[in-house]
Amino acid sequence: MTPSVCIGPLDLGPFPLLLAPMEDVSDPPFRAVCKQGGADLMYTEFISSEGLVRDAIKSRQKLDIYDDERPMGIQIFGGELEPMLGAVDKVAEVNPDLIDLNFGCPVKNVVCKDAGSGMLRNLPKLIQITAELVKRSPKPLTVKTRLGWDDQSKHIVYLAEALQDIGVAAIAIHGRTRVQMYKGEADWTLIGEVKANQRMHIPIFGNGDINSPSKAALYRERYGVDGLMIGRAAIGYPWIFREIKHYLQTGQTLDPPTVAERLAACREHLERSLVWKGPKLGLLEMRRHYAPYFKGFDHIKEIRSQLVQSMDPDEVRDLLSLIESQYTNATGGAEISV
Ligand SMILES: Cc1cc2nc3c(=O)[nH]c(=O)nc-3n(C[C@H](O)[C@H](O)[C@H](O)COP(=O)(O)O)c2cc1C
Repeated sequence: MTPSVCIGPLDLGPFPLLLAPMEDVSDPPFRAVCKQGGADLMYTEFISSEGLVRDAIKSRQKLDIYDDERPMGIQIFGGELEPMLGAVDKVAEVNPDLIDLNFGCPVKNVVCKDAGSGMLRNLPKLIQITAELVKRSPKPLTVKTRLGWDDQSKHIVYLAEALQDIGVAAIAIHGRTRVQMYKGEADWTLIGEVKANQRMHIPIFGNGDINSPSKAALYRERYGVDGLMIGRAAIGYPWIFREIKHYLQTGQTLDPPTVAERLAACREHLERSLVWKGPKLGLLEMRRHYAPYFKGFDHIKEIRSQLVQSMDPDEVRDLLSLIESQYTNATGGAEISV
């Protein structure tokens, strides 16, 4: 039997599937549908340490986590020790299951402050700051990072070992460099090398381009990771988690979600978004989700373009009902071609 994967005292069961932190995506409404889809551990969007210390509303709101989402990780980013220490204190007050440090974000205005993957240009500083944060954190401290800054500095095998030695409890590795941003295909070779390092004993989660059960099974086998972190493939398709689990357990492919299931998830996501963000932002942030929720629906383009233009919650609800009436047959089955 596959042993459980533990991050400190947190038992995630065998081969956990993690929902990746995603700015403007992995908020409580989205996490609710992913939890139902089978995610074993979820993270908040990244939160600015400086914002937290300043008590900025946007940062503080991202700290909201709920008991039915657990286990939950709260992710922070920053480039300087003092605000990061302050942020760890603030995060600890809301009692997450773990605190995660973002050393992977490639975005310019994060990197230019030495935060996110910017820290990969100065590994001694990264390690020194992390060591202090491990000491300060009352919860397991984990790291999410990339292979390195660029092709010439893919130091992840060294870095993973150094992080383990200072007490980091788990590492999630995205198989790209900062310079790659999101381009090309994620390269998991070095993630496999981190796992193959005999000295490593903390959980290593592989991340990057997992978008199907068969790829999940192949990468698990090939790179020996302790679990997978999934981001974009869960957007509008929270069933990815249960599909991967089922495939890993049985070798069989689950039937895709029915029209009714897709609509139910989309409606729940929408209603939670409207409550969570208010009507304007709630509708705006739902827009990226409709295409994947209704992927494979024949002739959906017209309704979808109305969905992404509407600023009226009732109109969006009516459009979802229209999808329901057009794409659900008399027996409730799906009439879609994927
Ligand atoms: C819209 C978006 C927002 C993201 N925001 C974050 C973030 O807040 N923190 C983080 O560590 N990574 C963030 N990422 C990176 C993802 O967590 C993940 O590493 C990346 O998408 C690769 O995984 P995937 O191929 O499964 O999507 C973001 C990615 C996307 C697409």
